[in-house]
Amino acid sequence: MGAFIEAIDLHKTYRVGKIDVPALRGVSFSVQKGEFVTIVGPSGSGKSTLFYLLGGLTRADSGKVVMDGDDFATLSDAERTRMRKRKIGFVFQKFNLLPTLDARSNIAIAQEISGNGDRDPTFFLRICDLLGLSKRLNHRPSELSGGEQQRVALARALVNKPAVVLADEPTGNLDTENSNIVLKMLRQSNQELGQTVLMITHNPEAAKFGDRIIHMRDGHVVRPEEDPQWSPH
Ligand SMILES: Nc1ncnc2c1ncn2[C@@H]1O[C@H](COP(=O)(O)OP(=O)(O)OP(=O)(O)O)[C@@H](O)[C@H]1O
Ligand SMILES: [Mg+2]
Repeated sequence: MGAFIEAIDLHKTYRVGKIDVPALRGVSFSVQKGEFVTIVGPSGSGKSTLFYLLGGLTRADSGKVVMDGDDFATLSDAERTRMRKRKIGFVFQKFNLLPTLDARSNIAIAQEISGNGDRDPTFFLRICDLLGLSKRLNHRPSELSGGEQQRVALARALVNKPAVVLADEPTGNLDTENSNIVLKMLRQSNQELGQTVLMITHNPEAAKFGDRIIHMRDGHVVRPEEDPQWSPH
């Protein structure tokens, strides 16, 4: 069987004024359906840039992302958006919750915009329960702790049972307890629903939660021993 997600020779350079900042310099890898892959690497190595490309949120300068047989670059903006909403659950590093909506609506909005039509209320409540959010559903983001906000963001990403979960530092600002809740939930969702999970993390302990680790450095995928921050035990 072919790969479910394929990154093929991705290049991306940002232009700041007259200066070119290369972020990805030819990144290729493939991920099988149902794999839980973690992506590690130093700050600035291109992880978030890769996250945006994998999710079809920005376009590569060259190279391509193929997900479940679809090449993002050949899709129209509307098709790309539709595919994103249907197939991918995103967890952003900075939560990206809507400040005027309570937790319940922040989670439900993912169901509303997905167009999947499968608004399983039992699943909604179960996710909230597993993430310890049941008593916080009427709170707005400003009335939630950082850990709770991150758990709401994760509930929003998972509530549609997406085929793919992309998470950028989902435990970045969390204490050990909250990190464990988030990691266990990602693992459980991956196992129960056969979801393909790509998780970016700085934390070697968190990285071990996955089936396999991809190491990045200076916009490249490198071997583990080339990653200066990585100390295998
Ligand atoms: N919007 C942008 N405009 C210009 N340069 C950017 C932009 N976003 C990222 N960069 C640059 O691209 C490179 C890769 O950034 P990226 O955010 O992908 O790294 P990262 O691995 O996610 O880092 P971190 O671990 O700190 O989140 C960095 O040199 C960064 O300064
Ligand atoms: Mg980043």
